[in-house]
Amino acid sequence: MAANKKLLVVPGDGIGPEVMHEVRRVIDWMDRRRHVSFDLAEALCGGIAIDTHGTPITDAAMAQAMAADAVLFGAVGGPKWEKLPFDQRPEAGILRLRKDMDLFANLRPATVLDALIDASTLRPEIVRGLDVMIVRELTGGIYFGEPRGITTLPDGQRKGINTEVYTTNEIRRVAAVAFELARKRRGKVHSVEKANVMESGLLWREEVTKLHAESYQDVELQHMYADNCAMQLVRNPKQFDVIVTGNLFGDILSDCAAMLTGSLGMLPSASLGAPDASGRRRALYEPVHGSAPDIAGKGIANPLAMMLSFSMMLRYSFDMDEDAKLIEAAVQKVLAGGLRTADIMQPGMAKVSTQVMGEAIVRELDKLAA
Ligand code: IPM
Ligand code: MG
Repeated sequence: MAANKKLLVVPGDGIGPEVMHEVRRVIDWMDRRRHVSFDLAEALCGGIAIDTHGTPITDAAMAQAMAADAVLFGAVGGPKWEKLPFDQRPEAGILRLRKDMDLFANLRPATVLDALIDASTLRPEIVRGLDVMIVRELTGGIYFGEPRGITTLPDGQRKGINTEVYTTNEIRRVAAVAFELARKRRGKVHSVEKANVMESGLLWREEVTKLHAESYQDVELQHMYADNCAMQLVRNPKQFDVIVTGNLFGDILSDCAAMLTGSLGMLPSASLGAPDASGRRRALYEPVHGSAPDIAGKGIANPLAMMLSFSMMLRYSFDMDEDAKLIEAAVQKVLAGGLRTADIMQPGMAKVSTQVMGEAIVRELDKLAA
């Protein structure tokens, strides 16, 4: 038995607990069949933590996250908590996890599986074989910049302020992650900002250019404005290999990239910190889809993004590439077999619930490992 891996599970709100329930089957399967053992703990975050403890995340839960080898996160948020001030909302919980764990590099891969080509709203020839990696800066930019807030002006109008801020180091460390990833992929990085109108964007472009010249000349670097990138993602997404961008543009562009694959319900993500002296890095894995309150509790959510997030965890936190591939293969097989949750339903396929999809993945794992 390999040494225990300390895993903190944070289901959160909306469909978070439903999809987490299915990934637990896969974790149990790994425990049973693959001779790895996870030391599991669970914590509250988001609306459920507000209802239970009066705060989107407690200091105790934060301490658990800091001590874990990896955090597996569901989703947070919902209409029930929308009226609260920003720092008391469910989203403040995940933002604190990202910030305090210093998870500055958010990897959001968008790949189109052959079985799902027809689920995309784009023509098959545009998306067939698509494999883009968005690297989103996650602990800086306008999400965290100061000053921020809403004030009342002397004439009674109100003013809302947020600030886009980036420093040299913040830009360099996330760009380095993108260049390193590109080296293991197709060797191409698009760096995305609005250097035509924003000083922070101009600095971004200059720093990425410098880092490239210093250390990554073997990688092809192109700069692109964020609006153009949104357009190019829909026009010709296969021109991209790795996209590196700031927090807000990354949020937007990754939803766009997700939809190229057919559904937000398919997209996993990894949020990584810097490796320490022993090579260990803090990490959190979550599906991109969010809490989807409109379908929560109905048993129809797609658990595959959650499963694929777990597979990213095996790859990036535990060096278990083979096991990660096994989960990916199981997902592909089940889809090829015609099972679909509602979000990726196609004519002639079998529409199944969250639970049936989860069970099908485990059955497929059994077959693959037999
Ligand atoms: C995401 C989400 C979050 C974000 C929310 C829930 C705070 O949209 O992870 O993309 O804006 O970063
Ligand atoms: Mg988002």
